[in-house]
Amino acid sequence: MEPRVLISEQAIAERVDALAVEISGDYAGSDDLVLVGVLKGAFIFLADLARRLTVPRVIEFIAVSSYGSDNHASGAVRLVMDVRGNIEGKHVLIVEDIVDTGHTLNYLTGMLQSHGPKSVKTCALVRKADRSEVDVEIDYLGFDIPDNWVVGYGLDYAEQNRTLPYIGTVDPED
Ligand code: IMP
Ligand code: MG
Repeated sequence: MEPRVLISEQAIAERVDALAVEISGDYAGSDDLVLVGVLKGAFIFLADLARRLTVPRVIEFIAVSSYGSDNHASGAVRLVMDVRGNIEGKHVLIVEDIVDTGHTLNYLTGMLQSHGPKSVKTCALVRKADRSEVDVEIDYLGFDIPDNWVVGYGLDYAEQNRTLPYIGTVDPED
């Protein structure tokens, strides 16, 4: 079944523009910003956001997976790939696709803090606020969405639909 459009391509583009302006303003004058994209889901958001920033920035990636069944995270997070570059003394901005329970972002924030950066902030395109299990600060948020499974713009359901230009909802039973 075709996903139903929840956030249009244009609405995403406008919001990413606004986030880029805000982030560029907050890091103005800094020359050591490191964007850490969380694979796989954040790859498109990171690509669009990173190209709109007007401050010097470098790109890193990190990969995690949740223990337990595919789509119902148990809360335990496993690091699959760490950042390659040295982030000690740098300003780190974690770029995530979606914050659901919050366990992943909470884990990543703590993990990256332990590398001795100058700061760690977080940016997420969407958040399912109703699902929050841990209190994790999102410094830059694109959209709050209801508790539906979403796909597109990097997000998948069983690896499908990551490359849709919009964010849409699917019924996981389909
Ligand atoms: P957490 O529950 O906040 O730890 O979210 C963990 C991860 O689950 C996110 O980074 C996504 O990769 C994935 N996820 C949660 N909800 C969705 C969704 O609606 N669509 C696609 N992926 C999701
Ligand atoms: Mg993710």
